[in-house]
Amino acid sequence: MGSDSLTIVDNRTGQKYEIPIVDGTIRAIDLRAIKKDKEDFGLLTYDPALLNTATARSAITFLDGEKGILRYRGYPIEQLAAHSTFMETAYLLIFGQLPTATQLEKWEWDISHHTLLHTNAQKLIESFRHSAHPMSVFIGAISALGSLYPDARDTACVECRLLQAQRIIAKVATIGAFTYRLNQGWPMNYPDDELGYVGNYLRMMFRMTEHKYVPNPVLERAINVLFILHADHEQNCSTSTMRVIGSSQADPYSALAGAAAALYGPLHGGANEAVLLMLEQIGSVRNVPGFIDKVKKGEAKLMGFGHRVYKNFDPRGQIIKKMAHEVFEVTGASPLQDIALELERIALHDDYFVSRKLYPNVDFYSGLIYQAMNLPTNIFTVMFAIPRSVGWIAQWMEMMREDDLKIVRPRQIYVGEGARDYVPIESRKA
Ligand code: ACO
Repeated sequence: MGSDSLTIVDNRTGQKYEIPIVDGTIRAIDLRAIKKDKEDFGLLTYDPALLNTATARSAITFLDGEKGILRYRGYPIEQLAAHSTFMETAYLLIFGQLPTATQLEKWEWDISHHTLLHTNAQKLIESFRHSAHPMSVFIGAISALGSLYPDARDTACVECRLLQAQRIIAKVATIGAFTYRLNQGWPMNYPDDELGYVGNYLRMMFRMTEHKYVPNPVLERAINVLFILHADHEQNCSTSTMRVIGSSQADPYSALAGAAAALYGPLHGGANEAVLLMLEQIGSVRNVPGFIDKVKKGEAKLMGFGHRVYKNFDPRGQIIKKMAHEVFEVTGASPLQDIALELERIALHDDYFVSRKLYPNVDFYSGLIYQAMNLPTNIFTVMFAIPRSVGWIAQWMEMMREDDLKIVRPRQIYVGEGARDYVPIESRKA
């Protein structure tokens, strides 16, 4: 065997094993050959939070957390944010290449012709209490779509998979806008094909009684950029959930509802909402040092800081921070901006955060923009879920193309009781 291998000596037996290294990785299953004796099951790896385990071979998103690099299909995120639109980036993530003008026109037509929501799905959304968290409504509505499109269960059919992808990308915007309208107690706005994806989304969110809604071009561009930045992020918690559920060959609506549920948590996509709640709780710049002390004592968490992969800076956060000024010129600054800047200033110089490589992530800044746009805090995670649906579906389609797709089924280390006999209830002791 060449040098691309790992030699392991099992000190229990003195046996030596050579394990191939491919792409800087060993296959966990190769360790199974390492046994104490013939009866032994073989060596397992233990990695409950998947800190050092690759679960996919993917050609979609490249991320280097040490250098702060993020690329979709090879294109740097900075270039896509500067020049692309969300629809074009969605095409790139799904098909692997930037579209020609004709391909983009067809793609936009295909998506815009799936934006209407079946009235049953709308009724379901309207049946939630007005105060329901928009993410609960979003998750419920996505999952219900599976019941409306039974063809989605044919996960082996390539054309059906693309059709579900188009439906999902189109309908998540409508569902997202409807969750907001429900929350506000306003009637739903149906989609308008004449507007682009983001313009139509803004119309469904904000149109009141005016006959013709014209989206503000600065805000439309800002949402395009935010949607591009949130579209994919390789094997994070929610994307892994999409793949795990999809591996059982469940329909993609069910898998996507699961992915959205994973995103909802405050340590993941729910962090943008948690950041705003934290800033509101701090209340004023003079309370910032006291809050930082609480974080350092372990009594609070600095939401919007830290990342499992980025250990230097989050390139998405830097793009949003620059863009925020353009948005604030239209909307006026977020009232919490000064508190956020002071928190950031202290945290970037304080040894507690520097030594743990805790930098602001994408969620630290995005909420300030949404707040300046007058969006209620509880809709922020929906603003994340809409574009991330593109990444989830692209990752699902990539996985479904694999020749040797297997259901995900991890192992465990059993730490419970050994075998024991059943005890009749009258003989049991408290
Ligand atoms: N505030 C204070 N301390 C923190 C923070 C934080 N936000 N994040 C991590 N730490 C500390 C931990 O307490 C730990 O300290 P210790 O070594 O003294 O025990 C150390 O930094 C390492 O943290 P881990 O929890 O091991 O890091 P992990 O990679 O598991 O977690 C995570 C990453 C979940 C993002 C974490 O940094 C966090 O909770 N951040 C706040 C929530 C957030 O902003 N999430 C959004 C992430 S981006 C996204 O999902 C879109």
